[in-house]
Amino acid sequence: MSKKIIILNGSPRKTGNTAALTSEFAKGAREVGNTVTEFFLGSMNIHGCKGCFGGGKNPDSPCVQKDDMDKIYPVYKEADIVVLASPLYYWTISGQLKTAFDRLFAVAECDPNYRNPRKESVLIMAAEGHGFEESEYWYDRLEKHLGWKSLGKILCGGVMAVGDIKDKQELKDAYELGKAIG
Ligand SMILES: Cc1cc2nc3c(=O)[nH]c(=O)nc-3n(C[C@H](O)[C@H](O)[C@H](O)COP(=O)(O)O)c2cc1C
Repeated sequence: MSKKIIILNGSPRKTGNTAALTSEFAKGAREVGNTVTEFFLGSMNIHGCKGCFGGGKNPDSPCVQKDDMDKIYPVYKEADIVVLASPLYYWTISGQLKTAFDRLFAVAECDPNYRNPRKESVLIMAAEGHGFEESEYWYDRLEKHLGWKSLGKILCGGVMAVGDIKDKQELKDAYELGKAIG
């Protein structure tokens, strides 16, 4: 059965290494009939959560702040699979991804018990080194807390400049992971 996939790409480089991985993932996923929508968070107008606990009143636009998250909310709500994609920044995910993810709390606020919608997920990351441990820990704990099911991780080390990734095995792995969905 075809699935709806949302990619939250926290890299500011639209042609960068993270984007190369998400592109291959999306290619594989689309080839087997899934629907993929990717958001490049770095070029969107997305503000940090204000912690006001005042959201959740309008399911179509659940946050009190009105910015580009309103483009993401409807796609997120419909999505079966959430792909969290980011370059490794100071041994963790980028601020762009964390900022957008915090704002998804407004969706949980639509539920009287702050329950987050159940999703499947994927982690995609690129880095100069190979220090993904802290990010993996964050992702694994997030999955557990939200009750989400991880479908896999694509972690590509050894890439710094745009284009460094071109011969990396992880591009094929990302494509295969996308293709395995459905
Ligand atoms: C602010 C910043 C912090 C970074 N921190 C790390 C790091 O902690 N470890 C690492 O291996 N690479 C680090 N890098 C390198 C990036 O992860 C690497 O260049 C990656 O390929 C960028 O992905 P992109 O092309 O999708 O932007 C950092 C880069 C920047 C700009």
